[in-house]
Order: sequence, then C-alpha cells, then structure tokens
Amino acid sequence: MSNYHIKHLEEYFQVYRKSVRNPENFWEEVAEEHFVWRKKWDKVLEWDFSKPEIKWFEGAKLNITENCIDRHIHIRGDKTAILFEPNNPEEEAQHITYKELRKRVCKMANVLRDKGIKKGDRVVIYLPMIPELAVSLLACARIGAVHSVVFAGFSSTALSTRINDCGAKMVLTSDGSYRGSKTIDLKGIVDDALKDCPSVESVLVAKRINSDITMKEGRDEWLAPLMEEAYGDYPAEVMDAEDPLFILYTSGSTGKPKGMVHTTGGYMVYTSYTFKNVFQYREDDIYWCTADIGWITGHSYIVYGPLANGATTVMFEGVPSYPDFGRFWEVVQKHKITQFYTAPTAIRALAKENLDYVNKYDLSCLKVLGTVGEPINEEAWHWYNDHVGEKKCPIVDTWWQTETGGILISPIPFATPTKPTYATLPMPGVQPALMDENGSEIKGNQTDGRLCIKFPWPSMARSIWGNHQRYKDTYFSAFKDMYFTGDGALRDEVGYYRITGRVDDVIIVSGHNLGTAPIEDAINEHPAVAESAIVGYPHDIKGNALYGYVILKETGESRDRDNLKKEINQVITEHIGPIAKLNKIQFVPGLPKTRSGKIMRRILRKIASKDTKNLGDTSTLLNPEVVEKIMEEAL
Ligand code: WT7
Repeated sequence: MSNYHIKHLEEYFQVYRKSVRNPENFWEEVAEEHFVWRKKWDKVLEWDFSKPEIKWFEGAKLNITENCIDRHIHIRGDKTAILFEPNNPEEEAQHITYKELRKRVCKMANVLRDKGIKKGDRVVIYLPMIPELAVSLLACARIGAVHSVVFAGFSSTALSTRINDCGAKMVLTSDGSYRGSKTIDLKGIVDDALKDCPSVESVLVAKRINSDITMKEGRDEWLAPLMEEAYGDYPAEVMDAEDPLFILYTSGSTGKPKGMVHTTGGYMVYTSYTFKNVFQYREDDIYWCTADIGWITGHSYIVYGPLANGATTVMFEGVPSYPDFGRFWEVVQKHKITQFYTAPTAIRALAKENLDYVNKYDLSCLKVLGTVGEPINEEAWHWYNDHVGEKKCPIVDTWWQTETGGILISPIPFATPTKPTYATLPMPGVQPALMDENGSEIKGNQTDGRLCIKFPWPSMARSIWGNHQRYKDTYFSAFKDMYFTGDGALRDEVGYYRITGRVDDVIIVSGHNLGTAPIEDAINEHPAVAESAIVGYPHDIKGNALYGYVILKETGESRDRDNLKKEINQVITEHIGPIAKLNKIQFVPGLPKTRSGKIMRRILRKIASKDTKNLGDTSTLLNPEVVEKIMEEAL
C-alpha cells in the first residue's frame, strides 16, 4: 500500500483510517519519502485551535523551489515544466523545460536580490498569466521573500490596499495584458495605486503588449534587460518549515481583505500530495488548470502542487470565449491535455453555446475532469460529463478555500464513485464535522449543518497578516476547537459531502469570493448614496449574481436613476474591480432592520430571488412597511 498514491477505493479507506488514527505518523511518512529537506523536523505537529497556533514540521529546513525544480533536473530536466498557451492562438505556445525554468527562476532571484529584496520582505505581484508570473512566485520563494499575488483584474484601489496591508517593498508588473480581444493597461493601474504606497521602493516591468507606458525615474525598470544580465544560478535560501511562503488576500465579512498567511513545509507537502491523488498525475500527462495564478487555485494547482510532482502544467493567458467558444477544447486537443480543471461558471457559460464548439475537437486525450470554486449544479455536471468527458472521465468536484491552501474534500478519480453535485469524501488527514446551530456536532448521516474541520492539516493558513485576532475570530470562535469554514454542507447516507453554499456574508460570483461588506463600503462612497445592502441571487451562468438595495441621500433623489446605476457600478469597479459589479440595483426608501438595528439580509435575499411567498420569521422586523414597498418595486 502506498500512502502517497491512492489507486482504488479500498486503498483510500485504508489510508484514510491510518491518517486519522495517527495524523502525525501519516504526514511524517509522506514528508519523509517524497520531498527533499535540508534538515528534518524536530516535531511533526504542534497545535492549539484555541490560541490558535498551528505548526507543522517545526525545526525542518528546506527550500520549496529545490522540491519544485532542482530535484527534477537530473531525472526530467528536458521535460516541459510550464507549457504557456498565449491569448492569441496564432502566437506560438512556449515549452519551458525544468532546466530552463531553473535558469529563469535563478536569474530573477538574482535580480530581486540586486534590488535589495531579502528573506522575509514582501513582494506584490500584479501580472497577467504569462511565464514571468510563475517565475516570480518561484524567484521569491528561492530567496525567501514572501510573495503576495494580486489578481490582475483588481482595481488600483484594491491593489494599493493590499500593498499597504503587507508593506510590500517591490511590485512586479507588466506594461499591460491581453484578455481576449482587449488589452488592459496594467502599468497605468499600478501607477495609480502607487500614489499612496510609501513602502514600495521599486517596480519591475515585464514587457507583454509593447504599449507606450511611462517609467518613473528611480523607481521603475524593465525586467527583461535585468534578466538578461543576471547570473543563471542562485543558491536557494534555507527556510524554516514555518517561514511564510506567501500572503494571499481573500474577502471577508468586513471591508478589509484578509491576508491569509501560508507557510512553507506543510503547504508543500499537502498541495503536492493532493495534486498527485486528486488528478492521478502520471509522468507523461499534460495537466491544465484554467484558473488564474492570482487565486489560490493557481498557486496550489498550477504552480506548487504540479511542479513538486515534476508535472507539465499549462498556463493559459486567454479566456474561454476567444477567438470563439471552442478555445478550451481547441487547446485540449492541441496539447493533448490529460487532466482538465476549471470552474462551474465556465462550464455553464460554454454549455449555453452550440455543441459544435465541443464536438469539433478530439478530446479523447482527457482522463480526469475537475471543478472548483462553487457548487456545480446537476445540469452543468452532466453536460461536462457527457460532452467533454464523453462519459469516460471521472469528474472531481474539489471543495476547498484560500484558507485551506489545498483541496480538502474531493473524489479520488477511478477510486471514489462520483455523484453529481457532491464533493464526496475528505482527503486523507482531513476530519470534517457538521455542526448544528447550538454548537453540537451532528453525528448521523443524511443531515446538514455548518462545515467545520476538527483537526489541523498541513496546508492550512496560519494567520491573517498583521491581525492574528481576526484570524481567531473568523475561523476559530464560532465553534469550540474547530476550524469553521463559513460553508454549509450536508452528508448523505454513505457519508458523501455536498457543499450547499456560504452561510455568512460572502457571495461566490462566477467562482470569485466576494464579501458584501467591501462592496457596500465602496457604494457608500458615492456622494448620492446614504446606505446600501448587497445580497446574492441565483444566476444561470455566474451561479450567483449581485443585487444591490440602495438608499439615496436627499441630494440624490432628483438625479437620473440610470446614470446613478452606472456611477455606482463605476465606483465598485474603481474600488474593487469589474468582477464585483451589481447585476441589479434597486433604489429603496429604507432597509428591513431588526429592532437592534441589524439589516435582515434574509428578507432581502428572498426578494432578490423572487421567493417572497414565505418570508420566514419577521417578528423582530422593525419596519414592515419598508419591506412591502421594496417588494412592490422589486426588479
Ligand atoms: C469558497 C472558497 C478553492 C479555490 C477557489 C475558491 C466555495 C469552493 C467549492 C466546491 C462548492 C465550493 C466555498 C468555499 N467553493 N469549491 N467544489 N463546491 N463550493 O477559493 O475564493 O477562497 O472560496 O468557495 O463556498 O468556502 P475561495
């Protein structure tokens, strides 16, 4: 039996039981057998959820890039590590071998060091999906700098908030990016953001779209000439297992994004382990995850997990609809993709289009299909299964979060029988619990509750940057001695989990995690707005769309409503980014509130989803007349 590579269901159950009976032994074996360490740990696990404090492999020394790159050089140095597929299908794909990747990472490590970046410094990366993005994560890891990637669709305000929160010394960006038929002026956004970021000393700019940009003297430099001159080797910095590897921001239920801190050793072990098992990666496979590296999916399952396994991982710069809706399938055929991992929202969007876009291509190379980011509905699941997988590829519905670092609940393909809309069973070492409203654990099956995890797993986030108290309050306070996920879930008669959605003020739109609070804060910045409340409602393609209820100030009452709506979405775009724009905006005289002044979002959600027959318990509602009025004018 192999702990590291599970091949059938019985083996899964054996490994799972072992992993739960003695998690320390289990992870120690995995860590020992499959990674290179400069020094082994003194202790496998130290934990206390009440503090909270979690330490895996304490005392161990390593560099993650030696595991993701150097150790592969002798065995598969000429194998493609990163396969870059550009936005424009006419532009040639790039095959970056492990040897070449090592050289680029070392060169960039030298460039960073020459710019004064040291171990522990934060570097914000605001780059499109071009090879420089993956290389910059790894170069930071090589020298021990903490990377914080900001998705290159975020606005300048969102970017500067993140830069200031982590006190970044450097920003890595590009002149611009391609996105389908459009180009985006990334450098302009960075310039805007940096008007108010005192910690940033330098900006390195990759050239992608050859646009005419301004370079600020003494701050900005082109990356390419520096790379060219740089030396192609760099001795990896020796890191502690618990040294931070990166910070990645995620939205929460207050306005400020949470900088989730991930550390080195446990993150490496867990993402590598889950990549191998969830995708059943074999040496000659070509694996493609369509996410952006700006999200955790890209960190764990485009960069670190695949490379730790010596895989070939595809980086795709484009979008599913360009030059037409067949692009994904054209790329699958062209590169003979074996594992394909995408979001339900993309599947739903493509399922709406003509089937010829899929049928035109030979997809017989595919072995495993994956989804992530939000619940997948039954219809989309079947479309994916029938037309993309041609009923022969298991679908892995992987449930996890930015905070969890890696996949926690998922089928293991060819082992776990799949069931549409179910993420199925926990990964080895993962101990889920469903909790009821009174804080007790629900023991039986066929129940639903709040999804918690009872025991630490190696890749869990260790803190929120600069705010450990918030980490405790958000994840460890709702239920005693448990990590609370914020999701609801149910367990069926065989113990399979189905994630039913968020139970807090986070809304998943097109697979993106959006907090209502930051959007409301943005809208309230508009001079004509007095107050607002955002809720989600079901949407065919996005999964959820955003519905905003807005109270105008007296000065706004006389203004043109259509213009106001445009301006409100403009403010959101500036503060957060276009992904957070509202689908519907209703101007209302007031918001339903409880006697204690809390907005009753439950009622607003019902109105937004046109489900007003039964509003539920309204005994604490202070202003029923407002609810009547909102219902009359609902969109
Ligand atoms: C939230 C986390 C994990 C990377 C992408 C999102 C939802 C995620 C699933 C799934 C149902 C899912 C949850 C979770 N979610 N995967 N397979 N089925 N819901 O990371 O932005 O941190 O969002 O996404 O609600 O809590 P994230």
